[in-house]
Amino acid sequence: MTDPRILPPTPENIEKAARLIRAGALVAFPTETVYGLGANGFDGAACRAIYAAKGRPSDNPLILHIPQASGLPALCREIPEKAYALCEAFAPGPLTLVLKKTAAVPNAVSAGLDTVAVRIPSHPVARALLKACGVPIAAPSANKSGSPSPTTAAHVAADIGAELPLILDGGPCGVGLESTIVSLSGPVPKLLRPGGISLEALEAVIGPVEVDGAVFGQLPEGVAPAAPGMKYRHYAPMAEVILLNGTRENVLNYMAEQKGAGVLCHDGEEGLFPSAGHVISLGGTQESAARRLFAALREMDAAGVPRIYCGLPDKSGVGLAVYNRLLKAAAGRVMEC
Ligand code: TXA
Ligand code: MG
Repeated sequence: MTDPRILPPTPENIEKAARLIRAGALVAFPTETVYGLGANGFDGAACRAIYAAKGRPSDNPLILHIPQASGLPALCREIPEKAYALCEAFAPGPLTLVLKKTAAVPNAVSAGLDTVAVRIPSHPVARALLKACGVPIAAPSANKSGSPSPTTAAHVAADIGAELPLILDGGPCGVGLESTIVSLSGPVPKLLRPGGISLEALEAVIGPVEVDGAVFGQLPEGVAPAAPGMKYRHYAPMAEVILLNGTRENVLNYMAEQKGAGVLCHDGEEGLFPSAGHVISLGGTQESAARRLFAALREMDAAGVPRIYCGLPDKSGVGLAVYNRLLKAAAGRVMEC
């Protein structure tokens, strides 16, 4: 049975969603990356309700969504030229900028930091909702804290309870992983979270970008990642995830020997694992792996497999984002084979 809270994004339903947000309620909506759990970004109490609905630690700040770059000065100060260059190249799209914040940003959004994360989404439903609301929308991914981000309305409904009155259904998300986060609040641009805009694409526009150690899961003991959310065991299904590093042949042979396990493979390899409990192909490209990964992890849990095996993806392009999410789902477990 479909959840009665899930509604198509008709103009009436978008207006209804905007009314709810302006009145201080939460609404889930699609973006090109993942579904967001939105609240009025100027309303501290509404933003605090997001943390409660997600079970999110209070030190993990939210992203503010706005329709265009002209909205940046109201929320951010000391905006460098590189911020506008990135907006020119990639906005609207799956990119989030971290900049010094103005006093207009509630503490519940920035979680006490002196900076704020801002994103200009490209999804037509997200844009229509922003226009109808007339305020920035604070929105983390609309999953329970710790589980994979939702890429369909049904994922949201499965995770968030009655505190969420309305889920706008925009179908499956096109990118499938959360936005690329770049901090421009320090002396050097820094990649805090890889996503749909690759490191290579960023550097082609603004020159060298430092990569935060958390992206590779390599922060020394006691050092906090620059994006607080990167320290939590995120994106994790209930099953144990194990990444395999080796030639494709070795990886496939190893996965073929595992009885009853979940296997994430490429197109054309599905028939190689007769003893597996559940097999899902992530497709043939980095983009398809990004788009399918979170739904695949949820499907593996529904199938009840105790362990999921996957080859370590290539770290170039969008592959770096897939690599980062898998590494986090695996809590760093990589096996040589
Ligand atoms: O694609 C996305 O970005 C999605 C959609 C809904 O827009 N949103 C999303 O939000 O992924 P969330 O809350 O799941 O992840 C936000 C990340 C967290 O890791 C958080 O720590 C980081 O952004 N973040 C937010 N504000 C920050 C700040 N001021 N400085 C550093 N990191 C920040
Ligand atoms: Mg999230």
